[in-house]
Amino acid sequence: MAEQARQQKVHITTFGCQMNEYDSSRLASLLASHGFVPAEDAESADLVLLNTCSVRERAEHKVYSYLGALRELKQRRPGLLIGVGGCVAQQEGKRLLDSVPYLDLVFGTQALERVPELIEEARAGRRVVCTPGEPMPVGLAGAHEADHPQLRPGLKAMVTVMTGCDNFCSYCVVPYVRGRERSRPASEVAREVAQLTAAGAREVTLLGQNVNSYRDPERGLDFAGLLEMLCREPELWRLRFTTSHPKDLSPALVEAMAGLDKVMEQLHLPAQSGSDRVLAAMKRGYTRRQYLERVADLRRRAPGVCLGGDIIVGFPGETEDDFAQSLSLLEEVGYDFLFSFMYSDRPFTKASKLPDKHLEAEKSRRLQRLQELQRGISLARHRALVGSVAEVLVEGPAKRGQGLMSGRERGGRVVNFEGKAELKGTLARVRVKEGLVNSLKGRLVGPAGGVEP
Ligand code: SAH
Ligand code: SF4
Ligand code: F3S
Repeated sequence: MAEQARQQKVHITTFGCQMNEYDSSRLASLLASHGFVPAEDAESADLVLLNTCSVRERAEHKVYSYLGALRELKQRRPGLLIGVGGCVAQQEGKRLLDSVPYLDLVFGTQALERVPELIEEARAGRRVVCTPGEPMPVGLAGAHEADHPQLRPGLKAMVTVMTGCDNFCSYCVVPYVRGRERSRPASEVAREVAQLTAAGAREVTLLGQNVNSYRDPERGLDFAGLLEMLCREPELWRLRFTTSHPKDLSPALVEAMAGLDKVMEQLHLPAQSGSDRVLAAMKRGYTRRQYLERVADLRRRAPGVCLGGDIIVGFPGETEDDFAQSLSLLEEVGYDFLFSFMYSDRPFTKASKLPDKHLEAEKSRRLQRLQELQRGISLARHRALVGSVAEVLVEGPAKRGQGLMSGRERGGRVVNFEGKAELKGTLARVRVKEGLVNSLKGRLVGPAGGVEP
């Protein structure tokens, strides 16, 4: 009897945002259906894939240094195949093959379905690039997604509901590497959510670069409608979504957040700057006042909402006064969490051609100042929650802090508390005892229903 071929092992490393994580999990599932099993590390793999991010220069550098570390492995094991996918692959295309001689395949953000055949080509000794600019027809992509459910989802899962972006903010590479905005049919999203809950997921985060501009291509349902539809899934306890663009925050969505119990009170609403002059140069499509009005409206209807933002410091030409307005925006909004970045020139973008670029040292100074201010704000907001009772989906033992269990409350804040390991996977009520910068500490009050048998 012929000896059975050893199973091929694949190792996938993911950089960048949750959308890349989602794509990597789909890729893993697709490759599993082609006989690949996961490898523990690159060292033990037959195929190493990188799913890459290009949003800032530093993210792109990480990819090249990771690739650099693989060179020696490839020298030792010439049979090893190395592939790069995702946003850097889409951006660079064939240039990547030219600059990294030991690279075997390059696949763009819209070419996931093609990866198995590209691997075959690479195995036959041909170095291949596949970076189509246009998405696969919806039907084809749909068939693929239904056929390849995510492998072993945990308690929390992600589902991409729309891809691409049409906003072309002047600093951002995403529209160039992810293509035009395209929503998945609601029926397909619902099917995937049902598959995930059947496999044990209880919380789903819907993903999109601009998730609230979602529009069902089949029935025209908007994003609020999609949320309402998904809430009917009986085994789903919690729905979150990210990221929302301020200009598309509709009253219907605010209503859905206020009215639908399964939709968590959390909103990531990046402002990017507090200065109207900079917002206009960024082409964000709203003013500081409009942004603040949306936030006030949201807080009126969903008072406990946990609000997050993104701020870029050191945009070309950002004056000291512009920067001061970003600082005052943080105070006026009172963000619960904030992601902040130093402006970084990206290929293709309008901002990269602007004059008056800042030095790294200046951007770094502004970033530190902003982050220091936000730490105080986050701490104060967390401390204000002391005494309240939080509904926590218990995820398991806390990363730090012996014997503590950990989970997230409805707003998405991490809550650590003393409790038994059996609480994992249940909803618990926890009284908040202490507010820290990045988490809350509390005491278990009791179960909050929804406990699995
Ligand atoms: N679609 C999302 C954000 C995607 S990129 C949105 O519009 O909110 C994630 C964050 O990276 C952005 O919100 C922005 O703050 C930051 N970012 C994007 N391009 C950048 C650049 N060129 N330099 C610095 N930060 C950038
Ligand atoms: Fe980039 Fe703007 Fe699109 Fe967000 S909305 S992905 S920042 S272009
Ligand atoms: Fe990065 Fe691409 Fe996401 S550029 S942030 S991985 S869409």
